[in-house]
Amino acid sequence: MTHGPGRVLARRFVAGETLDDGIAAAMRLARGGARVSLDYLGEAVSSFGDAEAALAVYREIVDRLRQVEAPVSLSVKPSQFAVDLSRGRCLDLLSEVVRAAARVPAGVRLDMEDSAHTDDTLWLARQLRERCLPVGVVLQAALYRTPADLEAVLATGGSVRLCKGAYAETASIAYPRKADVDAAYARLLERVLANAAAMPAPAAGQLAPAAIATHDERLIHRAIELIHRLKLDPGTYEFQMLYGVRRDLQEKLMGQGYPLRVYTPWGPSWYPYLSRRLAERPANLIFFASSLVSEVLAKRPATSPKPRAGSVRR
Ligand code: FDA
Repeated sequence: MTHGPGRVLARRFVAGETLDDGIAAAMRLARGGARVSLDYLGEAVSSFGDAEAALAVYREIVDRLRQVEAPVSLSVKPSQFAVDLSRGRCLDLLSEVVRAAARVPAGVRLDMEDSAHTDDTLWLARQLRERCLPVGVVLQAALYRTPADLEAVLATGGSVRLCKGAYAETASIAYPRKADVDAAYARLLERVLANAAAMPAPAAGQLAPAAIATHDERLIHRAIELIHRLKLDPGTYEFQMLYGVRRDLQEKLMGQGYPLRVYTPWGPSWYPYLSRRLAERPANLIFFASSLVSEVLAKRPATSPKPRAGSVRR
């Protein structure tokens, strides 16, 4: 992140590689009025040793959070806790994360990965709830199955982060057209916020019933209409955005008094996360490519042949 090509871009979307970087970013955001969800980057581990190492890091995060006053929750990916190797072992490891976080107290949410993980992730959330270790979940508007999953989660009183979905899926299970994903998000948003209106505000350190995770201004506008129409208690919902994305909009929402949580990833394994952010927005790829070209040009030895007359250098 400090030397490779496109480092400016990596630094924009990822708080840094060390826990100090993550905590510093969280404190900075908290001073600006935001809540934070810290995500220790890592996914698809291939050994239980790696999963245990991730648990050790989450324990360290919790220790640090106990020393600071900041509204921070945790986001975790089941595949970082070896769900692909063993659901049972993953459940035990995640139980440890939630128990540790309860000491802050900080809420924990399971991120939603690609569709190969949807059943496992919802199963983990149900099992954790049965162990009296409730976690929030994420549901992706892009998947056709989500309305049914949403009803199942709401029936258990679970907290839902609603997002569009960051993974490429086939048309047999997910809307291929963005307009349809947006329309599905709008429908699900109504259901999530209507449910929040019927829920009590959570205790300190617990997750709000509804998390509206999008940077889409039309959907945010729609959410604000619903929040007012349903007279939602501000404890029952929050907007959520990604670190480094639409900071102007983040400021604007907070300035208007809406609760906002910034999903703040950090850690050395930032590449897959960054790739998803690049894929989401072609302009990021153009920016990435142009910074790569500038770096290559800057590194060319001074003796490099000059461009021929008439050739174009962009
Ligand atoms: P959309 O893609 O329509 O973007 C709306 C506007 O936001 C764009 O026009 C642009 O201005 C800005 N924008 C969006 N993405 C950008 C980017 N990468 N760089 C720069 N600008 C960008 N997904 C998932 O599958 N599982 C998960 O667990 C999560 N978790 C999660 C947490 C939080 C807090 C957020 C905000 C998002 C997620 N996501 C996620 C990602 C989500 O599914 C989705 O891929 C992105 O949020 C982009 O979709 P938008 O809703 O922002 O809309």
